[in-house]
Amino acid sequence: MPAPRRTPARTTQPGRLYNYYLSGSVQDDADRIAGEEVEKVTPTVRTMARTNRAFMHRATHYLAEHTGIRQFLDIGSGIPTEPNLHQIAQAVAPTAKIVYVDNDPVVLTHSRDLLTGISHGPVTIMEGDITQPDTILNAPVLHETLDLEEPVALSLISVLHFISDRHYPLEAVSTLLEALAPGSYLTISHSTADFDPQGTSAAVKVYRASGMDPQPRTRAEIVRFFDGLELVAPGIVTPHRWRNPRGDTTGITDADVGFYAACGRKPMR
Ligand SMILES: C[S@@+](CC[C@H](N)C(=O)[O-])C[C@H]1O[C@@H](n2cnc3c(N)ncnc32)[C@H](O)[C@@H]1O
Repeated sequence: MPAPRRTPARTTQPGRLYNYYLSGSVQDDADRIAGEEVEKVTPTVRTMARTNRAFMHRATHYLAEHTGIRQFLDIGSGIPTEPNLHQIAQAVAPTAKIVYVDNDPVVLTHSRDLLTGISHGPVTIMEGDITQPDTILNAPVLHETLDLEEPVALSLISVLHFISDRHYPLEAVSTLLEALAPGSYLTISHSTADFDPQGTSAAVKVYRASGMDPQPRTRAEIVRFFDGLELVAPGIVTPHRWRNPRGDTTGITDADVGFYAACGRKPMR
């Protein structure tokens, strides 16, 4: 019988905590303890995580089905949870190419374990930090999979609020977009305190106590990531309202989720 997977004692990180919310299989005690603390102050955190995943599914499906995009760059990709982005894209376009990037070594190890053997098209996993966009853009392994002369869908789902202004997230996104061909897309989901200031502030304190430095942003701040892009309808909304065929019948409130989501297109020259 194989020995159960054990990881050494450590503090938690965003990807492992998110995996806990999604009832993934790889959390350990540090993740569970922090996750339970967040759940005490934000009881809808699991709804938040599932709603974000559903947004990623719809946005990726929309891009593969309606825009002709065949290349995806997912930064802050997290621990894979089926269906992951490549499975959604390749279900529509089997030759779609995907590069996953994350800066957490534990996430990368699990990603490599979980993705081995389940992908049929070109999928690459690489270590990279979004605060160093040039390092990601210059990585040979990225160019082995993606052709930056052709449009790319850049996916930044539930990651930018982990980059405080001290680490220049606007500049990082702008550098990435500059390197992508016209007709590329940017998809973002981002935490906000706009709907539940008290609950969000309490959750931020738990994250800080666990060694992370999250920065929820207002709608006006999140709009700035899309400067110069054409927003795909319906624009910037809470994730469960973005192109959701169930419309207002989900029973989920904006405060349950506490995120904004949007997709924008880099104009043709
Ligand atoms: C909340 S998880 C989201 C995972 C995935 N995007 C999803 O929606 O399921 C955030 C991920 O971003 C990663 N991350 C945080 N800061 C990062 C950085 N500076 N550069 C790259 N990845 C980062 C974390 O390791 C984690 O896996």
